[in-house]
Amino acid sequence: MSEKIDWANLSFGYMPTDYNVRCYFRNGAWGEIEVSSSESINIHMAATCLHYGQEAFEGLKAYRCPDGKIRIFRPEANAERLQSTCRGILMPELPTEKFVEMVKKVVKLNERFIPPYESGASLYIRPLLIGTGAQVGVRPANEFLFVIFVTPVGPYFKGGFQANPYVVIRDYDRSAPLGTGVYKVGGNYAASLLANKKAHDLGYSCEFYLDAKEKKYIDEAGAANFFGIKNNTYVTPLSTSILPSITNMSLMTLAEELGMKVERRQIPIEELETFEEAGACGTAAVISPIGRIDDLDTKKSYVFVKEGEQPGGWSKKLYDSLRDIQYGRAADKHNWVTVMD
Ligand code: PLP
Ligand code: COI
Repeated sequence: MSEKIDWANLSFGYMPTDYNVRCYFRNGAWGEIEVSSSESINIHMAATCLHYGQEAFEGLKAYRCPDGKIRIFRPEANAERLQSTCRGILMPELPTEKFVEMVKKVVKLNERFIPPYESGASLYIRPLLIGTGAQVGVRPANEFLFVIFVTPVGPYFKGGFQANPYVVIRDYDRSAPLGTGVYKVGGNYAASLLANKKAHDLGYSCEFYLDAKEKKYIDEAGAANFFGIKNNTYVTPLSTSILPSITNMSLMTLAEELGMKVERRQIPIEELETFEEAGACGTAAVISPIGRIDDLDTKKSYVFVKEGEQPGGWSKKLYDSLRDIQYGRAADKHNWVTVMD
């Protein structure tokens, strides 16, 4: 089957692979790792994940590299973020070692689906933790299922490193200041569907969120963090309602290494006017340059890449630095990469 895949033209979508890996939490403990070739899961109709959204997911990638090795980017960081989500919505924490062991196992079992280096595509790894125990009252489950599947993916936005237009959304909030925005729970994404549809219907690539309380500060760009660049400084929002992006954390480190200053602080929307470059970053988005951000309410348009021009220099440097580490073309100074045996 793999020989028929058109690797260079993959979209960011689901494609069946050979195996997924699973682990159940029952009677207060995580069980053995199981391998399954079924794409289905069989759960109780009163499972807490179905009624009360007690579920979390993660997203990371494996890359086939020019030296022939397979590299996985920062799986420990995803394990830790999942643990933070677990504390946030009362699910049992999966130990980092078990998470990483399962990630490696599912990648190995589906090796034939890891796209070739030249294609620019990668293997997306999707861990999912759900409350499977039955409850009718609003209470946490006592049984959980952790499953990881993988699927080969192309770029999240068409065209890869190419500037896209975004639109500011004020009439829907993705998450509240003291809500679940810092956790990777499905409810945040359900809350984003309408805003995302509105953005697409208006002809934009993605919706752009401001803080829910004051609608004054920049929060996130759809399913990616925001960064702006000016005066050799990488500026990214500090907010209690955005997902702590592992890509963004990595870019902050790389920006410093490239000689930039890094600021993590509230960014008033008007400050967009002053940025020389802007981008969205995340596992799926990698670095996606923002061409312009339209604010239809104030009739302002913040332009970062003019029609026919190429995205800015710092963003490309950051993109290349990150890609070089992910593909093993540069030294992995920070031990971010897990190389498969
Ligand atoms: N923000 C949101 C809402 C996301 O869904 C994601 C994707 O995971 C990100 C940011 C980027 O996070 P990361 O870089 O860890 O993939
Ligand atoms: C990711 O970047 O991993 C995401 O989770 C984005 C989206 C597909 C939810």
